[in-house]
Amino acid sequence: MIQGAEAIVDRSEFLGRKALVKTRPGKSYRLPEIDAHIRNIRTRNEARIMRDARNAGVRTPCIYDIDLKECSITMEYIEGRSIKDVLDEEPERADEICVKIGEAVAKLHSAKVCHGDLTTSNMILEDDQVCLIDFSMGCANAELEDIGVDLRLLERAFSSAHVGLEDSFGKLMETYYSHVSDPKAVKRKLTDIKNRCRYT
Ligand SMILES: Nc1ncnc2c1ncn2[C@@H]1O[C@H](COP(=O)(O)OP(=O)(O)OP(=O)(O)O)[C@@H](O)[C@H]1O
Ligand SMILES: [Mg+2]
Repeated sequence: MIQGAEAIVDRSEFLGRKALVKTRPGKSYRLPEIDAHIRNIRTRNEARIMRDARNAGVRTPCIYDIDLKECSITMEYIEGRSIKDVLDEEPERADEICVKIGEAVAKLHSAKVCHGDLTTSNMILEDDQVCLIDFSMGCANAELEDIGVDLRLLERAFSSAHVGLEDSFGKLMETYYSHVSDPKAVKRKLTDIKNRCRYT
């Protein structure tokens, strides 16, 4: 069992397949009815965003079951290492992996889906494929602003977790821009967000 920021994840099996159950436990500091409502909405949101991402052609775990009473999602268990670990252990693979991350995030954003917590701990390298997990902060019908914030978070997560891989991150963004329909608008938005953070 792994206890994350909010969720508990457990290995399990679903119809003979390796599975993972992600449960959102109750918070005792919230009123019980409000707590149940919030957990329910977050569970549904996460499952919906995962489905949208998958429909956009991004590799995400298959959803096997959703239990809205327990606020849990049973999903495909992805074999592999987190990209955070792969980049730490094999930095020579950074360029190749960053290109794949750029492609995956571009597909996601082109379908107006935001991830909400794009860190390399929320990406698994499965064989040679990037699989995105943990869509609990994600949103559908993303606006340019959401997309910009998603990229800014990725940039910050990357620069704090992977010092020395700045050039590879540059390749990630280059790939991203070459796959989205209006790279100029996204670049402008990203500059805007950075300036906003600098002066407020
Ligand atoms: N489908 C999966 N297959 C394999 N490992 C997974 C899968 N989903 C999650 N994990 C592992 O469990 C960890 C925690 O899961 P996840 O990132 O979804 O939750 P969290 O960060 O704890 O939760 P949240 O941000 O929703 O509060 C991941 O970092 C990863 O190591
Ligand atoms: Mg996570």
